[in-house]
Amino acid sequence: MLNVALPKGRLGEKVYDMFARAGFECPSILEKGRKLIFENPEAGVRYFWVKPSDVAIYVERGAADIGVAGKDILLEYEPDVYELFDLDIGKCRMAVAAKKGFRDNTERTLKVATKFSNITRNHYAAIGRDIDIIHLNGSIEIAPILGLSDVIVDIVETGSTLKENDLEVIDTIVPISARLIANKASFKFKSDAIERIMAGLENTEKVTK
Ligand code: PRP
Repeated sequence: MLNVALPKGRLGEKVYDMFARAGFECPSILEKGRKLIFENPEAGVRYFWVKPSDVAIYVERGAADIGVAGKDILLEYEPDVYELFDLDIGKCRMAVAAKKGFRDNTERTLKVATKFSNITRNHYAAIGRDIDIIHLNGSIEIAPILGLSDVIVDIVETGSTLKENDLEVIDTIVPISARLIANKASFKFKSDAIERIMAGLENTEKVTK
């Protein structure tokens, strides 16, 4: 049985759809309810819904053999897993944003609010800029408006959250999309099943494009 951690939410539903089209169906997953684990012994697959930011933990520790996680989570937590495949969905970018008209005074330490402290630290270390990280858990866009920070580092998808809060992108750090990841031991010992899934996913991708 292959254990698959899916990110709960809209992205996860898209991902399940791709897996189903790849031949790993589990119809009970579509029933409404609060159940989190679903299996289809015939297809040899067990799915479970987890918080998107937790998928990599399940996979790293082997509770899941494979899973789907955003590149943002992989860059932030740097889990010890194999990144197998870009699913080309859940596309957005990690960006620096600030109030319209913001000018960086490089003589001062830059105050940066973010959920992604590791990505932020790496980005500013690479360009040699001194920063003070303010770690928040959500609604990051409020920070520069209230003067809590100078800029934010956050995910931008449509750009509407920034727009509606009078902020603008001043720099793009990295493009983001959903990735298929595998536990390192599972990749060795369940290679047949994992390869079948990868082949199926590659085919469904070609059909969709
Ligand atoms: C994410 C992100 C931005 C927003 C970007 O927030 O942190 O706030 O989506 O999307 P947009 O460019 O399409 O507007 P999320 O919904 O995950 O909430 P949170 O960060 O406030 O927890």
